[in-house]
Amino acid sequence: MSWLVFGLLLVLTAGVSEANAVTVTTGPYTKVTISRPTEGPDCFVCVGEGSAQTCKLRADINQLQTLHVSFNCSRPQDIFTIEINRDFDCSMSCNYGPIQADWSFFQDFKRVFTWDLRFKSSTRSFQLEFPGPGMRQIQSSEQCPDNHTYSILMYLRAGPMNLGKFCQNGTITRIQILWKWRLTLEVPKETTLSQFSFKYSEVVGSVFAVDAVLPRGISNTDFFSASGFPFAYTVMWNFVVPPRHNFTVDFVKYNKPECQGKPVKVIYQQANMAPVEKTPTDEQPANYNRNFSLSLTNCDGKTAGGSSDSGLLLNFRVSVFRGGIPDLCAVDLQNDKGLSLQIEKKNQAELCEIGMDKVVKEKIVVPAGSKVSLSFLDCLKDDLILTATKTIECQNLASCPSVAGTLLTIPLVDSCLPPSLSQVTWVLNVPERGSVELSAPQGSLYQSVPGDQVCDQLLSAQVSAANNFSIGDFCSASKGIIQRIQISSSITVTTSADGNKDLRQVMAPLLNASFNSEIDETLIYTVYPRISTSALIMTPNWPGEMKPDSTLSYIVNVPEDYSAQLLFSNVTFPECLKNHAEVHIQELGSDLEVGFREDEKLVLEHNILKSFYLNMSNCEPEKGIFAILSKISLQKKPGKLLSIILGVVGALLALLIIILVVVCVAVRKKKRQINRSSIYIPKGNVSLPGDVLFPKTRADNDSHVYTSIDDTMVYGHLLQQDLSGPGHFNGHQVDGYKAFSGPVDKTIKDTLYDPTVERGPDKDTYHPFLAPSETFIPSRPRTPLGRLDSMDYEDRRMVDNTLYTFKTPGEPNQMNRSAADPVFCQSLMIILGQSLSWLIQNMRPHMRRICRIYLMVEKMNPVTQRWNVLI
Ligand SMILES: *[C@@H]1O[C@H](CO)[C@@H](O)[C@H](O)[C@H]1NC(C)=O
Ligand SMILES: *[C@@H]1O[C@H](CO)[C@@H](O)[C@H](O)[C@H]1NC(C)=O
Ligand SMILES: *[C@@H]1O[C@H](CO)[C@@H](O)[C@H](O)[C@H]1NC(C)=O
Ligand SMILES: *[C@@H]1O[C@H](CO)[C@@H](O)[C@H](O)[C@H]1NC(C)=O
Ligand SMILES: *[C@@H]1O[C@H](CO)[C@@H](O)[C@H](O)[C@H]1NC(C)=O
Ligand SMILES: *[C@@H]1O[C@H](CO)[C@@H](O)[C@H](O)[C@H]1NC(C)=O
Ligand SMILES: *[C@@H]1O[C@H](CO)[C@@H](O)[C@H](O)[C@H]1NC(C)=O
Ligand SMILES: *[C@@H]1O[C@H](CO)[C@@H](O)[C@H](O)[C@H]1NC(C)=O
Ligand SMILES: *[C@@H]1O[C@H](CO)[C@@H](O)[C@H](O)[C@H]1NC(C)=O
Repeated sequence: MSWLVFGLLLVLTAGVSEANAVTVTTGPYTKVTISRPTEGPDCFVCVGEGSAQTCKLRADINQLQTLHVSFNCSRPQDIFTIEINRDFDCSMSCNYGPIQADWSFFQDFKRVFTWDLRFKSSTRSFQLEFPGPGMRQIQSSEQCPDNHTYSILMYLRAGPMNLGKFCQNGTITRIQILWKWRLTLEVPKETTLSQFSFKYSEVVGSVFAVDAVLPRGISNTDFFSASGFPFAYTVMWNFVVPPRHNFTVDFVKYNKPECQGKPVKVIYQQANMAPVEKTPTDEQPANYNRNFSLSLTNCDGKTAGGSSDSGLLLNFRVSVFRGGIPDLCAVDLQNDKGLSLQIEKKNQAELCEIGMDKVVKEKIVVPAGSKVSLSFLDCLKDDLILTATKTIECQNLASCPSVAGTLLTIPLVDSCLPPSLSQVTWVLNVPERGSVELSAPQGSLYQSVPGDQVCDQLLSAQVSAANNFSIGDFCSASKGIIQRIQISSSITVTTSADGNKDLRQVMAPLLNASFNSEIDETLIYTVYPRISTSALIMTPNWPGEMKPDSTLSYIVNVPEDYSAQLLFSNVTFPECLKNHAEVHIQELGSDLEVGFREDEKLVLEHNILKSFYLNMSNCEPEKGIFAILSKISLQKKPGKLLSIILGVVGALLALLIIILVVVCVAVRKKKRQINRSSIYIPKGNVSLPGDVLFPKTRADNDSHVYTSIDDTMVYGHLLQQDLSGPGHFNGHQVDGYKAFSGPVDKTIKDTLYDPTVERGPDKDTYHPFLAPSETFIPSRPRTPLGRLDSMDYEDRRMVDNTLYTFKTPGEPNQMNRSAADPVFCQSLMIILGQSLSWLIQNMRPHMRRICRIYLMVEKMNPVTQRWNVLI
């Protein structure tokens, strides 16, 4: 125990004595000096450890050394200064990296960084290049706002010349210096070092020069000549004056040296102009434009150098202001009907002044059909945003046939407009009782999925419906599957240029738009899935919500020999305030359909044997959104030969079943009181060679080959009676009844439906087409039928359930639900490669009935009162 306490004590004492100790490591060419003024409090800097430690007023650390440094007072940073010197000898080569104050030790001390650079050449010099906003020269009494003060000393034969003090953030971008010089950066204590770094490189020429880029807008910038300016020596300032700006030079303060011989002279130079020579006391140039340079040459004198009091000193100011000549551009939109232009300034472009017809504006809108003169004063190309809007309208369908098939092409915009065309919007105004149709000018339309598949390099068009409700982003592409989009309302189509690209360079039309007669849905997509790849389709505004109370229909065309697999890969249902959000799948040219509502479980995977509608409708949501992403892929149906072989087998099977059913019905007629089924045909594993559609039995797979049938439809058909009422029949179909989408009376449903199924409150005000009665609607099994591979299988709940159907109109005939055989119908469908609707329509009456009854028994949708059918 005692050794532990001892050890702890040892650690603690070490900690105390080392309180402000630092192990300093110096890099190559780096020397560090820690020093203090001799007056002041008692505090020493101690170097080394243990007995080798020496404490002094000053410590020097040479390059590539590691030393233990400590101070024997509590706040040495108030007394000591750290000087970090880097010595670059560039006589031979000069690969020392950029000049940057990177020194991690003694952050809270006053630090002085010095870079010494030596070099010997009479024809070459060194340039220091400053990044970013450049450097600003300040008076020796001034302070830099960030407390990082730079100064440059140049060693000439006549003695040192002090170029003055500089801060970051100014107009000076480059200084060219000769021979040997020292750059100093002073940072007061407790100041975080800025990451400023500058480059230096050799250049040809032996002039001492300062380059400055004057800012746009109105500014006054002061410059100072060096102190210790030798006689007959010249410094040159090169100024870059911004375009369309004028400058004026003022000599604010001039200290005349004691000259003997040639006087001090100032020479102004501009490209393609003769130099202008002046004396410091002359009027200096006022109101000139273009870049210029000013060179100052000291007079001849006898004494070398001279102190700052007696030597040459000049403080001059360069003022910059607007030249005031705007660029003009005449814009004529009279020949492009419906085209208007908008020009806006970007936020940072305060200097740029735009005007229309001599009136200065913040934002210009050139109205459609007008002819105007625009002016741009001191505007750079990137200061402005140019957008175009083209309105294409059709008052009524009959009077504007020419609008059919308008290609949406980037409009021609006058080249005198400086900015690039960054966005074009087409406003397509639909006439009353009309719709708009979009297609690809070549190929088909491809919809980009946010964050997944995007319109590569191709220009994409953002399509939005009324109230700016987004539909999606589309482009014409070979990989597209959308043949056309029909939209019931007026739309806007917008395309934006990436980055700084100019849409004026885009020649190819984006979309083909035409006006058509009105459609029933809010939106209809005609889709041709590709055989090779699966495709994603999504609700408008995906992943955002589909517009409330809107409807959407995909007409999905499936090639003859193929079946489609539809997978709802990402589904969000809302909670509805009014009506219901629904999803329906319906085979084309058939009434067989399956439907789901937002308050029931959506079966995610469906196999559909022919072209189909995928319809979706949104309710008025209370909470949550309606958004569905679906994936469609095609699969080849089984081969024809196989179909024939299996067809024969199927026919035999059919015969057997018919006999069984007949026997069963006969037996049942005798024993009317026995309502318990004894007939059940086992549902084995349906696995046929080459059967790609049914990889698993239904019992162990959630995937279904579907078609669905409405209860009213099933019964109605069996009645063989015209039950037509307005809006309930398709009209052209003999035995097809339009799906009834409203739910039935709540009380009936509540008694019939499985209470474990969660259901939302009913908000419908509809009434069922056929008022359901207790005898009419059989109850639904609470669970799927479960494992069906046993002859003994019997669902207890089935015992009392009888299914009523009608042999003759109005006269109910009881049939046991187990009489229907799903396996049989299913097998037949696979074998014949046909849909259920085909089967029902083309089969002999008895078989037709079997399959139909099977439909009813198999699965009744609890909410929609529809029979979801598993085939
Ligand atoms: C610091 O060390 C020096 C030299 O060893 C000594 O003279 C001085 O008194 C010490 N000061 C303090 C505050 O310990
Ligand atoms: C610069 O130093 C002054 C005075 O020491 C101080 O008041 C100011 O906060 C410092 N500024 C910065 C940016 O560190
Ligand atoms: C640079 O200086 C200008 C004006 O002298 C000032 O408005 C601006 O904020 C400064 N920028 C930085 C980064 O210090
Ligand atoms: C002024 O100098 C800058 C930088 O060298 C150059 O880009 C610009 O074209 C010059 N302006 C004129 C009008 O010559
Ligand atoms: C700017 O300078 C040019 C050339 O010196 C001159 O013609 C023009 O009038 C000046 N602009 C203004 C606004 O004074
Ligand atoms: C544009 O669409 C219309 C209507 O669908 C069609 O008649 C026309 O041929 C299409 N034009 C092009 C270039 O595809
Ligand atoms: C339409 O929506 C887009 C993005 O959702 C937005 O950038 C644009 O400003 C909107 N336009 C109008 C007219 O509201
Ligand atoms: C699906 O929409 C189409 C229109 O594209 C319509 O003809 C069909 O009746 C709709 N089917 C259902 C079940 O809503
Ligand atoms: C559905 O899509 C949304 C939006 O893209 C995404 O955030 C979410 O993770 C997706 N959900 C699934 C289950 O993929």
